[in-house]
Amino acid sequence: MGLFSRKKSAFGLDVGSSTLKVVQLEPGSKGYALRAFAMVDLPPDAIGEGMIKDPPVVVDAIKEVVGKARVQSKEAVISVSGRELIMKKIQLPKVNPKELGDAIMLEAEHHINLPIEEVYLDHQVVGQSAGQGGTMDVMLVAVKKTKINEYVAVVEEAGLSPVVVDVDAFAVQNQYEINNPEAPAEAVALIDIGASVMKTNVIRGGSSIFARDIAFGGNNYTRAICQRLNIPFEKAEAAKRGQEVPGVSWEDLVPSLEAVSRELSLEIQRTFDYFASTTESERISRIVLSGGCARLAGVDEFLSSSWGVPVEVVKPFQNIQFDPNRFPADDLYAAGPLLAVAVGLGIRREGDKPA
Ligand SMILES: Nc1ncnc2c1ncn2[C@@H]1O[C@H](COP(=O)(O)OP(=O)(O)OP(=O)(O)O)[C@@H](O)[C@H]1O
Ligand SMILES: [Mg+2]
Repeated sequence: MGLFSRKKSAFGLDVGSSTLKVVQLEPGSKGYALRAFAMVDLPPDAIGEGMIKDPPVVVDAIKEVVGKARVQSKEAVISVSGRELIMKKIQLPKVNPKELGDAIMLEAEHHINLPIEEVYLDHQVVGQSAGQGGTMDVMLVAVKKTKINEYVAVVEEAGLSPVVVDVDAFAVQNQYEINNPEAPAEAVALIDIGASVMKTNVIRGGSSIFARDIAFGGNNYTRAICQRLNIPFEKAEAAKRGQEVPGVSWEDLVPSLEAVSRELSLEIQRTFDYFASTTESERISRIVLSGGCARLAGVDEFLSSSWGVPVEVVKPFQNIQFDPNRFPADDLYAAGPLLAVAVGLGIRREGDKPA
């Protein structure tokens, strides 16, 4: 039994809209050790903005990434993201754990503009006032059943069993906590910018105090390059990633990159304004970037200068041991930002948190 029982060798499977990632962790002397990882790219239209558009292609890619990582386990921990996710911090009168489920059901109806039977609800207690008769803060998460079922279906179709369905923003937090065991007292914004969704999770003292997903990501950059240079998506994508593309120089990309980075900064502004308008407005002391866009040359400096706060790129393997003969450190560190969600999922085990 317990978190680390051998049998429960679940692994993290991040079904991103552009890249699938597998990370399998096992107990190590320092906490966690890396047992397996792999990444496989998806064609651009297989998943759009957190929605599976071409299930057979996704199923094949899942089989491929699991095979590539040589994972034996069938127990996949997966996640969803997207602007239609409802993540809200609500305040409830203090109730005992047994009554919490009912209290949340009652309260949820006021916060979710969808029929309650159409969503899966999850929650986490993120704070409470001292003494009896006080209040408790709960992070409420509601996701449409149809969306979860779509993801579960492709994973099952690939011959796996989805044992936990998490949310990207919270997976990034899980990852951050094992790599930064001393929970910072100030508010830190964890921002994962993938190909199509930007997920923000503001944490403080080890709890999430605000979370929001919006539609924005690396595809915005790639599309801007396509349009400006009139080249196909694949070429624009390769050029953006710094690969050699005949007839395209880095200077050609700069105007598009700058324009989209300004849009990104505005989107972050909107999210921070929204955060500030929630009950406990508070200064964000630091931004930690993850997702493939964190690898875009100069994006961290750009955001740091526009925000006046330190911006760092996530280090998901800082506190995870790995055998450098099996996993070359350069490869892992280069892939690092893309693997933040998968590392966070790799920590989860079936039944480890109350649903
Ligand atoms: N070296 C790089 N420079 C710039 N952009 C990069 C680089 N490597 C990857 N990207 C971009 O990062 C994005 C992929 O990141 P990531 O794998 O985090 O997204 P995803 O999980 O597939 O998507 P999402 O989370 O939005 O569903 C793509 O848009 C890709 O172009
Ligand atoms: Mg992602």
